[in-house]
Amino acid sequence: MSEPRQILVTSALPYANGSIHLGHMLEYIQTDMWVRFQKMRGNQCIYVCADDAHGSAIMLRAEKEGITPEQLIANVQAEHSSDFADFLVEFDNFHSTHSEENRELSSLIYTRLREAGHIANRSVTQYYDPEKGMFLADRFIKGTCPKCGTEDQYGDNCEKCGATYAPTELKNPKSAISGATPVLRDSQHFFFKLPDFQAMLQQWTRSGTLQDAVANKLAEWLDSGLQEWDISRDAPYFGFEIPGEPGKYFYVWLDAPIGYMASFKNLCDRRPELDFDAFWNEGSKAELYHFIGKDIVNFHALFWPAMLEGAGFRKPTAVNVHGYLTVNGAKMSKSRGTFIKARTYLDHLQPEYLRYYYAAKLGRGVDDLDLNLEDFVQKVNSDLVGKVVNIASRCAGFIHKGNEGVMVAGDAAPELTEAFLAAAPSIAEAYEARDFGRAMREIMALADRANAWIADKAPWSLAKQEGKQDEVQAICAQGINLFRQLVIFLKPVLPVLAADAEAFLNVAPLEWNDLQSRLENHKLNPFKALMSRIEPGKVEAMVAASKEDLLAAEAKAPAGNGELSKDPLSAEIEFDTFAAVDLRVALIVKAEAVAGADKLLQLTLDIGDERRNVFSGIKSAYPDPSKLEGRLTMMVANLKPRKMRFGVSEGMVMAAGPGGEEIYLLSPDSGAKPGQRIK
Ligand code: 2FM
Ligand code: ZN
Repeated sequence: MSEPRQILVTSALPYANGSIHLGHMLEYIQTDMWVRFQKMRGNQCIYVCADDAHGSAIMLRAEKEGITPEQLIANVQAEHSSDFADFLVEFDNFHSTHSEENRELSSLIYTRLREAGHIANRSVTQYYDPEKGMFLADRFIKGTCPKCGTEDQYGDNCEKCGATYAPTELKNPKSAISGATPVLRDSQHFFFKLPDFQAMLQQWTRSGTLQDAVANKLAEWLDSGLQEWDISRDAPYFGFEIPGEPGKYFYVWLDAPIGYMASFKNLCDRRPELDFDAFWNEGSKAELYHFIGKDIVNFHALFWPAMLEGAGFRKPTAVNVHGYLTVNGAKMSKSRGTFIKARTYLDHLQPEYLRYYYAAKLGRGVDDLDLNLEDFVQKVNSDLVGKVVNIASRCAGFIHKGNEGVMVAGDAAPELTEAFLAAAPSIAEAYEARDFGRAMREIMALADRANAWIADKAPWSLAKQEGKQDEVQAICAQGINLFRQLVIFLKPVLPVLAADAEAFLNVAPLEWNDLQSRLENHKLNPFKALMSRIEPGKVEAMVAASKEDLLAAEAKAPAGNGELSKDPLSAEIEFDTFAAVDLRVALIVKAEAVAGADKLLQLTLDIGDERRNVFSGIKSAYPDPSKLEGRLTMMVANLKPRKMRFGVSEGMVMAAGPGGEEIYLLSPDSGAKPGQRIK
């Protein structure tokens, strides 16, 4: 037996100003499964994370909510922690970057970098909001695109023509925070001299630390020459003040990765067997892995190893990068209800369904992963309920009825026992390589073989025959032993199923090594259903609730506030908010006055795949409503149904004009078809 490995694992630190959604969960579930596998193998594996609590976005959000940043990050930390726990993501520590440990380590690393000559400082000219009294990051400046003249574009790129530019090139710039015209102002900034580490990074990124696709991407940056990195921000800023530089703060991305160390340090203070230096000092024998998404590769595979090297700490063993999550083949969409928060999922479905689905689809690469909701239901039901749990439920009853719950000794299918044992190294190798998809395929192939063998032996037929009781018991004991092997294989993915199975099997928590043994002359506990099928209605309800989340957030923050929008200008809405409006061409099938209502018409609208009942206050302009029948108009199709005195209104038609006779119903050009979306 080889020595247990010492492994420290992290997932990216979530920002402390928003909810966790299923896109985030992909990473935490991926990491958690890998960590659980390592722990089952007997390695010392520590999994730490934290909330990423600094930056101007958090400062401004707290201000808008009328609370302190400390209150905001405490609220969010509580929410995040329960989301992770309920998804069975088991951190050894979940800390915060706004912590004493992180302040000390950030100062230490900065001081060491400065002393080694890796910090430069010089004056930078930037836009400053004179009303708000703060320098403006690019995303807080809006103006007219210098290339194509489109108004209302962000400070660094134009959404219309795709041009990129400096904020100073924008025409008619405005602060997105106060609306004031920004002025140019100089300020001293501190820079990390990344080019000092060019040679080290050329070598490190090609030394097996990164997937090939990631290393190739980084080579593009490395080959074109690295730039010095601005690591300071001026007050007001929510973060750590730079030692010896009053009014200057570390940029959030400087202290965020140091948060990995800080979380581990905080854990070491509670777990005396853990030695911080043994994990982090130069030359450490411990392994260090960061799991991240592909959007933050430069921070983890360039800046971070350079900071560590420059400050005399060890560098990561590997940075494991995953792709983005799509839902039903497209980017998560609030209006389609596929932007699903972790909590909304948990309100409707068991966490292990998603853990299994992600496992089944995760490979080693950086490809995006699609959560296809129909396939999700089908796969979970067929694999977990139909194949794995089925084995136990088919066999347990006969053992309880025929042998008082005691599994008989003997191996009724040596070739299967052999095949399961022979598959173990390959399954372990797939887990180790984060090729969860391959591990799941191999496990399900074994489950298929076990089911086929049981079906062939048909203990349920034998049980009805005289003198076949011994055979029934031998088959069912074998079935349960195979089930137990499958549970061991699946335990990193399905910890609750495994715990329930351990209770039924009446065994101590299963380890990977337990594959070598089998249960003989062993008493089982009563069998309880281990997992139920996903009802498709639950998925539909989750999607509907996700649409409601959007509407509720909009009602709470009509424009530019909260998670829907990163744009602090209250008069504007984010593109996402606009895109959330489902605008459709609608055919007015029927239009009639509403008895007892002076202003309302009742419209029956055809939007292609369904008909909608809509009450609209346009009667004053259309005294003869039947004239509207057969006409096309435009409607908002995803407005929350509204109960009115006369019935439920299921949407809204669009009209212009001041009112009275001057109401003009909007119509598309001829040729438009009912149900077509307006984009
Ligand atoms: O991109 C993000 O969500 C960041 N909060 C991740 C930080 S990871 C680490 F460097 F702290
Ligand atoms: Zn433009």
